[in-house]
Amino acid sequence: MCGIVGYAGPGDCTDVLMDALSKLEYRGYDSAGIAVFEDNAITVEKAKGRLKNLEEKMEAGHRPKGHVGIGHTRWATHGEPSDINSHPHGNKRVSVVHNGIIENYIKIKRFLADKGYEFSSETDTETVAKLLDYYYNGNPGETIAKILRKIEGSYALGIIFSDFPDTIFAARKDSPLIIGVGEGENFIASDVPAILKYTRDYYLLEHNEIAVITRDSVSITDLDGEPVSKELQHAGWDEEAAEKNGYEHFMLKEIHEQPEVLKRTVLPRIMDGMPFLDECGITSDMLKSFRKIYIVACGTAMHAGLVGKYVIEKLARTEVIVDIASEFRYREPVIGDRDLVMLISQSGETADTKAVLRLAKEKRAVTISVVNVKGSSIARESDFVIYTHAGPEISVASTKAYTVQLSIMYLFAFQLALANGAITEKECRELIEELLSVPEKIEKSFDVAETCQYIGSKLINADSLLYIGRGLDYALSMEGSLKLKEISYIHSESYGAGELKHGTISLVTDGMPVIAVATQEDLLDKTISNIKEVKARGAKVILICKETTRVADDIADYQVKIPAVKDALMPMVAAVPMQMIAYYTAVLRGCDVDKPRNLAKSVTVE
Ligand code: G6P
Repeated sequence: MCGIVGYAGPGDCTDVLMDALSKLEYRGYDSAGIAVFEDNAITVEKAKGRLKNLEEKMEAGHRPKGHVGIGHTRWATHGEPSDINSHPHGNKRVSVVHNGIIENYIKIKRFLADKGYEFSSETDTETVAKLLDYYYNGNPGETIAKILRKIEGSYALGIIFSDFPDTIFAARKDSPLIIGVGEGENFIASDVPAILKYTRDYYLLEHNEIAVITRDSVSITDLDGEPVSKELQHAGWDEEAAEKNGYEHFMLKEIHEQPEVLKRTVLPRIMDGMPFLDECGITSDMLKSFRKIYIVACGTAMHAGLVGKYVIEKLARTEVIVDIASEFRYREPVIGDRDLVMLISQSGETADTKAVLRLAKEKRAVTISVVNVKGSSIARESDFVIYTHAGPEISVASTKAYTVQLSIMYLFAFQLALANGAITEKECRELIEELLSVPEKIEKSFDVAETCQYIGSKLINADSLLYIGRGLDYALSMEGSLKLKEISYIHSESYGAGELKHGTISLVTDGMPVIAVATQEDLLDKTISNIKEVKARGAKVILICKETTRVADDIADYQVKIPAVKDALMPMVAAVPMQMIAYYTAVLRGCDVDKPRNLAKSVTVE
């Protein structure tokens, strides 16, 4: 949700900013812009649309030459995507890039308008730039501290002042920001991939801290100007991990990384063949004390939570309530100190999920987060964190982050089930063994790529389609349906197979594609009956089932057979054909797979 960068060093600032922004385009691509010190004056270039538009504009016109500057890639919130609404905002004296939302910007705008300021854009960010200009007293640190006390909302800010042509200033509250520390050059960025080409060392800026960065110094203070000392962080992955490595799209690369990242996530949490979340501080005694478990998240992460609910309730017999964060936070949930609230988030920065975490803490519930990005806000603020080790996920459509989130749901369910006495040690060992076999089964399931591509070719002209399943297959269908619609722009819905006949089956007409997931042995016959119901009404059925499942050839028009594991674990393997069908359909429709329209990877606004 908007990416910001900044550079101070000996290199060509425009080159570095454009390169760093290209790594953050997943955060938004409505417009891009940079502000660079050129001959000690601020030069701004910006353009609506993708970064390449800005590149082309500068090639045809003016490409700023300098060594210090800031840059931005935008996901529009206030004001449509346009040149004028693009960041940086400001004037000859001060220039600002911003990720977040200034909630009291209208009040500030009125205040400044009374003082004679005029506004050219519809953005909230322009008010920050003008407020800085209004209060500027020659001391940027003091001025920034002053305006931070006046603005409300969320922000990561990169700021330059014309009086300080070798310096970038940065501040944040509720939006992520790191300070990259290189040799003779320093950076700011919304996320680590932006700086990996230059350095793997960085500081995490905390709320209400101000950073002052030149090519050879980084100093951080609180709002009172008191120095803050920080531990230098080191990124566990290098630039290559954030590149496509020969794959046509990040999404395809990330689908193929699943076996590896699953091993990386699961293995450290197994000790002597048993689940071992103790390494995250989560003990069995603690687990069994919970009355209820709430799993709250957004998008794909919420879908991982749904699988978690089925598995935890089935194996551990503890009640689980799953909700989307934007609903949960406003519906006055009944939570207390005997409840566990589990937050799942790839980025660890999703605004609604973060708000739920804070609400849960206020209500004195115990909070555990399942997060991919190390040091992110949700990871830092929750009582316990279980990191998934998916590495950087660049494709906006989540794939590997989902499967590793599932693996944590399983480990958690196993450990809780054991703590509750709902399964025996022997059963637990068997489940763990099965979990350990999943990466290999996923590897084998990549063989369905060609079939999925063929199915994709049959879906490209569909207006709408349905995903159906029961139990865990239903939970997985929701993710399959989301994947397809977000990247191919074909409308799709997911339904509990048994619920279809209560209304939705009226949509089924001749030739409508229905993707039926049937990996659960105990529900197979029932799902087959539902498949027959849609088939009788003309649906073209695509069946996803285990390779060991025997069904009549005429049950479905296409069958995708995948390697079998215990039913409880099937969603991890069955996720692969879901991802591949979505991927190939989108590619064949000519869609921009890694950057679907209107979406952003990290949604830091509510
Ligand atoms: C966005 C992304 C989704 C993601 C969701 C939650 O909508 O496009 O892929 O599932 O946010 O993000 P989180 O980082 O909290 O998992």
